[in-house]
Amino acid sequence: MKGIVLAGGSGTRLHPATLSINKQLLPVYDKPMIYYPVSVLMLAGIREILIISSPEHLDNYKRLFGTGEQFGLTFSYALQPRPEGLAQAFVIGRDFVGDDDVALILGDNLFFGAGMGDLLERARGRKEGATVFAYHVDNPQAYGVVSLDKTGRATRIVEKPTKPDSTWAVTGLYFYDNQVLDIAADVKPSARGELEITSVNEAYLQRGQLHVERMSRGYAWLDTGTHDSLLEASEFVRTLQNRQGLQVACLEEIAYLQGFINRAQLIARGEMFAKTNYGQNLLRLARESEDELRLR
Ligand code: TTP
Repeated sequence: MKGIVLAGGSGTRLHPATLSINKQLLPVYDKPMIYYPVSVLMLAGIREILIISSPEHLDNYKRLFGTGEQFGLTFSYALQPRPEGLAQAFVIGRDFVGDDDVALILGDNLFFGAGMGDLLERARGRKEGATVFAYHVDNPQAYGVVSLDKTGRATRIVEKPTKPDSTWAVTGLYFYDNQVLDIAADVKPSARGELEITSVNEAYLQRGQLHVERMSRGYAWLDTGTHDSLLEASEFVRTLQNRQGLQVACLEEIAYLQGFINRAQLIARGEMFAKTNYGQNLLRLARESEDELRLR
């Protein structure tokens, strides 16, 4: 399975902070925002990742991640000339995806919760159709909203409804089989001029192939699109990390625990960042025994 991180956009709600820098490069506490969605793809076991961003900013991502070998990953990069919608990721990423299945995650979405790995594995394990993740929110009109029947099956999906008939928002993480390439190629721009991901999900719903996994209590799905939500996300990460002494979205840690990199690579990265808790965490991890690691 391939993974795409969509990290373009205009970031107008974060102006002037995003006048000269792409939103997903801003820090969420101690690391660039894009680390968080990349960590989710890694937890799903995905190692080939395409980063899509705007022409002014793509080089910054290349500088940040390079080939991806430091995490045992392979990164590719592609331009989105204008932010013309989430479904455009599959038009831009068509060759990258090839004959494979693909997961898409938005560069400004932060997920956290025990059991994330199992949830992702279930989605990845489905051989046919699409899986989206629904999260209970108190302002559904700001999102794509999915209605569910008593058994949890999707009955309807609507983009930013003025009168929502469900409180389940569709989050910015999507798993698709290869049909997505042709479905996205057929999507027509919406009234706001975007290729909507909701249109893609609607097509799967009509085929009876849209699976919805609910992220229940205990999961955090944070948006980082405004000044307040960005600061709240930073505070959330800081609180968790300082209380537990464990890192959220530490890419080298995930790579090591997933077996993508070895101990020597882990230590080399830890030494690079030795002045920070991030680096110290890597060095500590390298000292821990197999038994200790299993308990993490
Ligand atoms: P949005 O929050 O809808 O848009 P934005 O990031 O441009 O911000 P603002 O509303 O403040 O102008 O985008 C959600 C995510 O998807 C974000 O990570 C940017 C990304 N995105 C793209 O990369 N390309 C696109 O065409 C769109 C619509 C969004």
